[in-house]
Amino acid sequence: MAKSWVNSAERIGADLHLQLAEAGGRRAALIGALREAVRDGRLAPGTRLPPYRSLAADLGVARNTVADAYAELVAEGWLTARQGSGTRVADRAEPLRQAEGAPRTSPPRARGPRHDLRQGTPDASSFPRTAWLASYRRALQQAPNEVFGPGDPAGLIELREALTEYLARARGVRTEPDRIVICSGFAHGLRLLFGGRDRVLAGPLAVEAYGLPFHRELLATAGVRTVSLPLDEQGARVDRLARERAVLLTPAHQFPTGGPLHAERRAAVVDWARARGGVVVEDDYDGEFRYDRRPVGAVQGLDPEQVILIGSVSKSLSPAVRLGWMVLPGRYVDGVLAAKGEREAWASVLDQLSLADFIVSGSYDRHVRRMRQRYRSRRDRLVAALAAHAPHIEVTGVAAGLHAVLRLPPGTERSALKAAAWQGLALDGLAEFRHPATDMAARDGLVVGYATPSEHAYGAALEALCRVLPPKADSGLPVSISTINR
Ligand SMILES: Cc1ncc(COP(=O)(O)O)c(C=O)c1O
Repeated sequence: MAKSWVNSAERIGADLHLQLAEAGGRRAALIGALREAVRDGRLAPGTRLPPYRSLAADLGVARNTVADAYAELVAEGWLTARQGSGTRVADRAEPLRQAEGAPRTSPPRARGPRHDLRQGTPDASSFPRTAWLASYRRALQQAPNEVFGPGDPAGLIELREALTEYLARARGVRTEPDRIVICSGFAHGLRLLFGGRDRVLAGPLAVEAYGLPFHRELLATAGVRTVSLPLDEQGARVDRLARERAVLLTPAHQFPTGGPLHAERRAAVVDWARARGGVVVEDDYDGEFRYDRRPVGAVQGLDPEQVILIGSVSKSLSPAVRLGWMVLPGRYVDGVLAAKGEREAWASVLDQLSLADFIVSGSYDRHVRRMRQRYRSRRDRLVAALAAHAPHIEVTGVAAGLHAVLRLPPGTERSALKAAAWQGLALDGLAEFRHPATDMAARDGLVVGYATPSEHAYGAALEALCRVLPPKADSGLPVSISTINR
């Protein structure tokens, strides 16, 4: 059984919740209770047991009784005792009570792919552990006690203030703290707007012809009809907006095809919202990562009354943090707070405190800067590898973000994905992002997440990628590879 890293911490003060039987002596009762706890998995292999004195005090028994019980269980092989490392549950003392076929508390982890170029995640090995820990510690030490009270459904004011300043500076967002609602990421923001009993926004909702299927599913589950807007080289065809009440766009970097929404279309969509009483929902998911030019500011800055901007740290830091923000026109704030309800959907105050400190202390800027350099260099390596080994494959959407799109000859996407599976290379095909009811012509392509692998695994992943690309139409030869390295 894989050992949880959580168990590696010394949980000396942990309450073992032992029930000592009334019958028989205290020593036998304690031995029986400990055996039982190991057998049914409450005490996992490797867990350190409390010192004699503290367990004796907890249970109201003599210290010697605990010492004797431990010694007995060591002799039986249930526990191990080593100088300096205390008494622990023996490694082979697996829980025996798992009934055949009974569901496990957590499913065994499937082995991941050999190479992972799926879009969606930043480089998990680059999470700024030290700086995050410093922010967490500082915030915890300095926060007044009231912070640990019931909290504010809109989110911690310190975080909303930090975001107001940061988003103005980095994304051209115009807002105030009382128009920001903290949520647990973009998906949560979408659910708060369109889900819930008293919907803040109603459909039909126009969405881009290519987008994240998960978001479309979330909307469909909430009963929201989506209408597809075709894309061209200037982004979404917002001139096609008709009777929709709202439009969801990824203006800084169309997801997943790449490319910013053209300036004229940015203005046009805001004009549409003004004229029709509609609203633009701006998914600002990776706006900080732009490599060759200055970042494209948020559409929200053009008219804060017509645009709801939702951002999150999922690309900039990690999707595991589950923190995001909704920047709202004033008229939607109460509705969103009502949709949030009581407590259940509030973000952890401790995480909010950390993020506020992380932003104010400059750590967020430093991290984004560092990652921008790293991802730019990965983007360059991808482009160079394709130029050298598959020059017939067009790569698009490389000016920004954490992924690129490789355009494939018509009819070759499925075979490329099959070849990738054979190579142990996880990849996304463009087809899965296509709105099922779009009149836009289908494109064959691969979406390559170049941020996903750790630094040392990236070269091998690129080699695998080049191996699975379809050959040039007239050559019939597979793409030739030497070693792709820095
Ligand atoms: C298109 C798009 N929008 C938004 C997000 C952020 O989603 P969330 O904040 O729910 O993790 C992602 C993924 O990170 C994305 O790919």
